[in-house]
Amino acid sequence: MESPDAIRKNEHLALAEKLYPQTHQTNPFNQVQIIPTALPETAVDQTSLQTTITDELQLERPFYLEAMTGGSKRAGQINADLAAVAHKYQLAMATGSMSIIFKDPASQSSFQVIRKQNPDGIVLANLSAKASIDQAAKAMQLVHAQALEIHLNAAQELVMPEGGRQFNWVANIDQLAARFPVIVKEVGFGMNKNDISQLQSAGVTVINVSGRGGTNFAAIENARNYHTDLSSLTNWGLTTPQSLLEARASRHPSTAIIASGGICSPLDVVKAGVLGADAVGVAGHFLHQYIQHGRPALEKTIADWTVAVERLITLCGCHNFQELRTCQFTLSADLLAYAQQRQII
Ligand SMILES: Cc1cc2nc3c(=O)[nH]c(=O)nc-3n(C[C@H](O)[C@H](O)[C@H](O)COP(=O)(O)O)c2cc1C
Repeated sequence: MESPDAIRKNEHLALAEKLYPQTHQTNPFNQVQIIPTALPETAVDQTSLQTTITDELQLERPFYLEAMTGGSKRAGQINADLAAVAHKYQLAMATGSMSIIFKDPASQSSFQVIRKQNPDGIVLANLSAKASIDQAAKAMQLVHAQALEIHLNAAQELVMPEGGRQFNWVANIDQLAARFPVIVKEVGFGMNKNDISQLQSAGVTVINVSGRGGTNFAAIENARNYHTDLSSLTNWGLTTPQSLLEARASRHPSTAIIASGGICSPLDVVKAGVLGADAVGVAGHFLHQYIQHGRPALEKTIADWTVAVERLITLCGCHNFQELRTCQFTLSADLLAYAQQRQII
């Protein structure tokens, strides 16, 4: 019999997949158009897929496996497969939240397997914004992580029947950022420009806006909540393009911005780069490939994305992912109105 936390992890996996068709009906990246050039004046063999987040986080590919799971037997099997894929295709990979290891030490192996499968790759250890310095050190040590990923998930917690109800996080994030290389991320509800500014003031130099448009933890937790109907939170949050525009207006030049939330194609990856992302995390869509069609299908998707992203960067007349932000783009009337009201364009 698994622990209640492990059961919750299995429910998240099952519900993310069950709700995939409903949560991926509209793609907010369709509201962004890259202005193409007929004269790229470059070549595929002049294009690099490497991207630099920080000195410790030099990624071979601009997209990576974003935080999903760990903690249960099933989650351990999935982590082993995802980490083997990350190893084969030189992708960075984030663990799912490791908080469970402090309640249930037997769950440690479901995270350690990530490092076992991918001895030299980039692994990010994921914890909540409440984590203590000791917990962060232990989680990072367990998977030999290059950085700590701290998740912000107020909307999820509030829909979760057993979730937290208090959200004073900044002082703790400040302490963690003073001790470890940290990435602060949302879990699919996005960030506004004041969030970005506050995190930067707390010493955070890598921020993953993780917006709405893909996996929806309000919908997932509401499906687990048999007591109270909180479906009114299902459309909560900023989309990933909205969040990237917010970040564009408030980032310091030395802050790295990561995009995640609803990334489902190589074109979405490239559009995120045009909106200023330094790298892109993908969770639900890669999980969907894996659960629906198995590890070979996920490998084929990643091999195809690698080629397509390289060719799209070339087609944009750029030489690497980070140069994409120099491309021109237009926004749909809705997204433009949003950006104008927010005074971020
Ligand atoms: C099954 C599942 C479990 C997740 N668990 C975590 C987690 O433990 N910690 C975290 O920071 N984010 C977690 N996420 C959120 C993702 O990292 C990501 O921020 C979010 O799903 C949006 O990206 P997507 O639309 O590509 O899925 C999880 C996502 C999925 C699909």
